[in-house]
Amino acid sequence: MTKILHRSLRGRLPVAVSGKGVTLTDSEGKAYIDASGGAAVSCLGHQHPEVLAAMHAQIDRIAYAHTGFFTTEVAEELAETLVADAPAGIGHVYLVSGGSEAMEASLKLARQYFVEIGQPERSVFIGRRQSYHGNTLGALAVGGNEWRRKQFAPLLVDVGRVSPCYEYRDRAPSETPEQYGERLAKELDAKIAEIGTGRVIAFVAEPIVGATMGAVPAVPGYFKRIREVCDRHGVLFIADEVMCGMGRTGTLHAVEQEGVSPDLMAIAKGLGGGYQPVGAVLASTRIVDALKAGSGMFQHGHTYIGHAVGAAAALAVQKIIKRDGLLDKVRADGAYFAKALRRALDPHPHVGDIRGRGFLTGIELVADRATKRTFDPALKLHARVKSEAMQRGLMCYPMGGTIDGVHGDHVLLAPPFIATRSELDEIVARIAAAIHSGTASLKRAA
Ligand SMILES: Cc1ncc(COP(=O)(O)O)c(C=O)c1O
Repeated sequence: MTKILHRSLRGRLPVAVSGKGVTLTDSEGKAYIDASGGAAVSCLGHQHPEVLAAMHAQIDRIAYAHTGFFTTEVAEELAETLVADAPAGIGHVYLVSGGSEAMEASLKLARQYFVEIGQPERSVFIGRRQSYHGNTLGALAVGGNEWRRKQFAPLLVDVGRVSPCYEYRDRAPSETPEQYGERLAKELDAKIAEIGTGRVIAFVAEPIVGATMGAVPAVPGYFKRIREVCDRHGVLFIADEVMCGMGRTGTLHAVEQEGVSPDLMAIAKGLGGGYQPVGAVLASTRIVDALKAGSGMFQHGHTYIGHAVGAAAALAVQKIIKRDGLLDKVRADGAYFAKALRRALDPHPHVGDIRGRGFLTGIELVADRATKRTFDPALKLHARVKSEAMQRGLMCYPMGGTIDGVHGDHVLLAPPFIATRSELDEIVARIAAAIHSGTASLKRAA
């Protein structure tokens, strides 16, 4: 019997023993195509020899040097690269071990900034319903997924909440996408006014909502208007690109496609592609300069920040993405993938929406396409689809509670950037079969 406290205390997991490219193999020899990159992590697939070599070389040089005593060449080079490729205004990098840590550090950096510039009364964050920013208490507090928050709610700081940008369900038929985005910007404006302009630290959002809603991009112009509203109130904009960043949507950062620059940005997952636990905060020069002029330090830190092997893995992953032109590939093959998915799934009576960008794709499942009615959450359609997919040797990332944390089902697909077109075709065939069997099994159960 396992001694690990697994995510689920019921059932048995297969044992992963090897990986190569887009495929993982278990101890019984069964192969799985990793169509979700785990949870949108494995951008270069598994066991990329050059990433492994870079990690080996770093381990042979220096595996760990505490950041209270030393910096390392590899961490400095990674930071140089990340700043060079960052949106305008970003000048500094804070290296951590994952997405939640990146969000925690972003929240604390934002708060410290206002303390340093003499605005300590700013103490409230605003987040969106149905967002996910991580599972540590600060990140969970700004996140808006009710299912994840519910039992921990008494431990979480109060956060202002506004609507997500969810065109499929929330844009009124009478509205253009731009008018819908404008309505949401006004909602944020009103929320800031309600809390008190001088009390809000930052607005926090995923440029493309990932795990909780299934790859939901904003309507055109939404983030530009959001940025204007934030600027007018002196409120910071924190972009959580933990899932949608580092090339997943076809540009290094998802905000590039929105034409805005955040003040702080959290990245992780695709930064190190799963080869090491690594994440980062990209911080604007304005924020770091305020700390430099004030206390001269960021009052934060963990034992493993700036880990040399994490930095080596991330640097290798980012160099390969650049050298191999993988952002162009994600854009071109993302369009191919979306078209193939539409061809296979558009006719399906329970596929309500296929959305996303690049290699971050969501499929929302509905009981009725005309009314967009959802399936009974008790049926756990998302879990059925996952199990059907695993039986077919396909890893995908289905989730329930798409709309409000309880209702709705979706499947997230996030293939490695290196997936070939024939591998993408195979993913489409297997996910279509899994969705078909998953929804058919509901009918048999009814
Ligand atoms: C948008 C977003 N933010 C934060 C996180 C938390 O990252 P981690 O699981 O690495 O702590 C995730 C993880 O799925 C995420 O998708």
